[in-house]
This record gives sequence, structure tokens and C-alpha cells, in this order.
Amino acid sequence: MKNLEITYNKGKENEFKATKGVNIEIYPEEYIAFFGPSGCGKSTLFYCILGILAPSAGEILVKGKNPYKFSAEEMVNFQTSVIGIIYQAFFLINSISVIDNVALPQIFQGIPPHKRNQRAMELLKRFEIDSKAQFYPDNLSGGQSQRVSVARSMVNNPDILLADEPTGNLDSISTKQVMDALEEINQRDRKTVIMITHNAAQLKYCHRVFYMKDGVVARVVPNPEKKQIAKVDKTQMLVTEMEQLSRMYPYDPPDVLKVKSLVNFLTQDLNFDQLARLEGAIKVMVDRKTTPDKLIEYLTASYDAGGVGLSKPRARKITDKIVKILDQSKDIQRYRRRLLRADLFTNQDELVANITNYLIVDYHGNFTPEQKSNLKNAIFDRLVGNFRKEGFEARIATPVKDGGAGFNRKTAHNLTLHLEKILIQGMETGGE
Ligand SMILES: Nc1ncnc2c1ncn2[C@@H]1O[C@H](COP(=O)(O)OP(=O)(O)OP(=O)(O)O)[C@@H](O)[C@H]1O
Ligand SMILES: [Mg+2]
Repeated sequence: MKNLEITYNKGKENEFKATKGVNIEIYPEEYIAFFGPSGCGKSTLFYCILGILAPSAGEILVKGKNPYKFSAEEMVNFQTSVIGIIYQAFFLINSISVIDNVALPQIFQGIPPHKRNQRAMELLKRFEIDSKAQFYPDNLSGGQSQRVSVARSMVNNPDILLADEPTGNLDSISTKQVMDALEEINQRDRKTVIMITHNAAQLKYCHRVFYMKDGVVARVVPNPEKKQIAKVDKTQMLVTEMEQLSRMYPYDPPDVLKVKSLVNFLTQDLNFDQLARLEGAIKVMVDRKTTPDKLIEYLTASYDAGGVGLSKPRARKITDKIVKILDQSKDIQRYRRRLLRADLFTNQDELVANITNYLIVDYHGNFTPEQKSNLKNAIFDRLVGNFRKEGFEARIATPVKDGGAGFNRKTAHNLTLHLEKILIQGMETGGE
């Protein structure tokens, strides 16, 4: 793409420039991703590569040719045999069987029916969906549908696979299957793969990532873990914290990441590698898949031995805190389930009383009955969503005579943070 611009509704009142001067080169056999926030122009480039959205200015060449100069016949060949397509929404034809869906694009190549079906079946087997060959697409799950469309995209053995958010509608297991299929198509079949994704976790599959923002490719980042096909500037291959940070904060530009790197250095004695391991360990704990003792063991193991490298006392303190918060959050879960079932309860409910007690366990002042009752009411209001975090904090800092809990600002702030930590852990997140 050379100075590629695409303007929607050109010359009209609602004219909109969706891409503004994109200059990139994608090499044969490369696996690349267009990555960026919604509306940045990813699908616009997809349609342009596919030959259905002509540049308003600049130029696009695919395999050295300008698709917008093709004859009608050349265009059909281009769209059915040079490029394979996968969409987020599958776009299978519901009125014909799975195998016919996969076989269909071969009609344009004049391939006889039995050969078409043979080829389609091979691909269905390869992507482990052959058992559904005679089904209609309506009867498949999302993951199965997408594997059918992967098979369909490969049926005419194209050179380039274009995929627009291929896993956008899928659960994590189906996502993995589709990502594995794309990787194999790139590595084994040596196809060029152009993927659009929102998901930072998928960038590790790619040779290079084109980070998009507001209609431009803001930066091109080669993946240091992949042997590069493109001739990339050696200095870009230097693996720095920037790479790691751009995975943690995929939408932030480099200048913001530099600031984050410094703030981490100034405020934390743990580096990003340690933080990443700590996060992993806490996740296992939050999923309740380990014990406190095992967590302490992992936190104190040296970094070189695969652990986080914390001191014993610190690991213990962290573990104690997590155990406590997770424990307390169980009551929030119970409470929310009852709320969802619209079970009746009063604001003097036992669960509210429990949560109130957790919060004041580290508070050493004396309580008047009125003060405690006001605190309970504030907690109740926060739990049912009558207050946001700020409202809760303001309420408990209000004098008792005015309906608050009369805490000083610092105590009110700490109690609010504690409640928020319990609250977030008590939310059902479901799946991954
Ligand atoms: N047919 C159209 N007419 C006018 N504007 C359009 C049209 N299609 C897209 N746009 C605008 O162009 C911009 C880029 O759209 P595009 O679909 O390429 O974004 P995207 O990066 O694919 O976003 P998403 O991640 O949400 O799919 C958006 O602001 C969008 O509103
Ligand atoms: Mg899009």
C-alpha cells in the first residue's frame, strides 16, 4: 500500500476519511496482524485488499498487480483463488450443507463435482469438522462454523488468507483451535496470513504487527520471537521492555509506555517480569486452583528458578491478604445471587452485617450503635448499586448526625478501597 487513502461518501456532507496515507508492505509467507481500537480502519483495509473498496488516493498492489484494474473475470479469480476469506460472522450459506459450503468456491474454477467434494472433504477432515459434513450450518456451534469457513477459505488453495476478527465471536477453546489452524496455514502451507484482531494475546502468532490508530498505521512492530521474513531494521529487533509493555497496554502509544516504564521503576521494586508472574500466580489463587502454602512457595522461589523472588515475610503478607479478601468476597457472591433472584431481605441482613464486620476489623475506634447502623446502610446502598464508590466514600465520611458514619477522610478512603476490593472479587465473571 502506497499513500493509501480511503474516503467514504466522498464529496458528500458526511464524507469520512477512514484511512489516511497508509504505507506498508506485506511479504509473501508473512503472518501479520492489523491491530487497533474500533473504528481505526482495519476492516476498511481488509475490503480494500479484497478488491471491493477502491482507494480514493494512493495505490494498492497485490502480488504486484492492481486489483482495481482487473477485468471482471480476473476479479472473480482473484477473490476466489488468490485470496481466501474468513469473517467474524462466518457468512456460511444456511440453505446448503457444510460440505457444499466448502466445495462451492471451486465452481468458479470449473472443477468437476466429484473432485470438488473430494477436496472439500479433505479440508473438513484436516480441520476436524468432517463429522458435520452433511449438517446445515444452522446446526453448528460458533467454533464449528468458523472451522468450516477456514476449510472453505482454503479450498481453492489461495496464496493469501484474509481474516477479519476470525475469533471475535468465539469462546476460548474455539479461539485456540482457529488460531492453531491459521498458524498451521501460515507455517505448513506457507500462505500469507493477514489477520485483523482486537485481541492482544493473538499478536504472538504474527511475524509483525501493524498498530493502527485513526486511519494510519502508527507503528510496525516485528515479533522478536519469530524469524522475520520482512527486512526489518535490526535496531527494531532489540527486545526491550517496550515490547512487553505494548502487550500489557496494547492501545497505548510508545511515549505513554515510556512513562509507564519510569513510573514502574520509581514506585515498584518489582519489575514487569516479576509482576507478570505475580499476576499469573494470583490468577491461579483467584480461580481457587492452589493453596496458600503453594502460593507462598511460588512467590518466594527465586526468579531464576521460575518463581517471583519475593522475601518470605512479604510473600506471607500478600498471601494472607488475598486469602482474606477472597474469603470475604464469597459473601458478596451470595448476596448478589440473592439480589438476582430478587429474594427479599432487609438492610439489617446478616450478609450486610458480615461485610460491615470485615471492613471495621482493622478499625480501632469505638462505635456508637447509630454509627454502625449508618455504616451498614451505606454498605447496603453500595451493594445494591444506589451509590458508586465515590458516593459511598462521601457518605461514610459524613457526620453521624447527618446520616453518615463519621469517619475521618483517610479512614473513609481506606474502608472504601477495602470494600471495592471485596466487591470486585465477588463479581461472577464466568468462563475465562
Ligand atoms: N460504509 C461506510 N460509510 C461511512 N463510514 C464508514 C463506512 N464503513 C466504515 N466507516 C467508518 O470508517 C471508520 C473505519 O471503519 P472500519 O470498519 O474500517 O473500522 P475497524 O477498525 O474495522 O473497526 P472495528 O474494530 O469496530 O471493526 C469508522 O469510523 C467507520 O465509522
Ligand atoms: Mg472491523
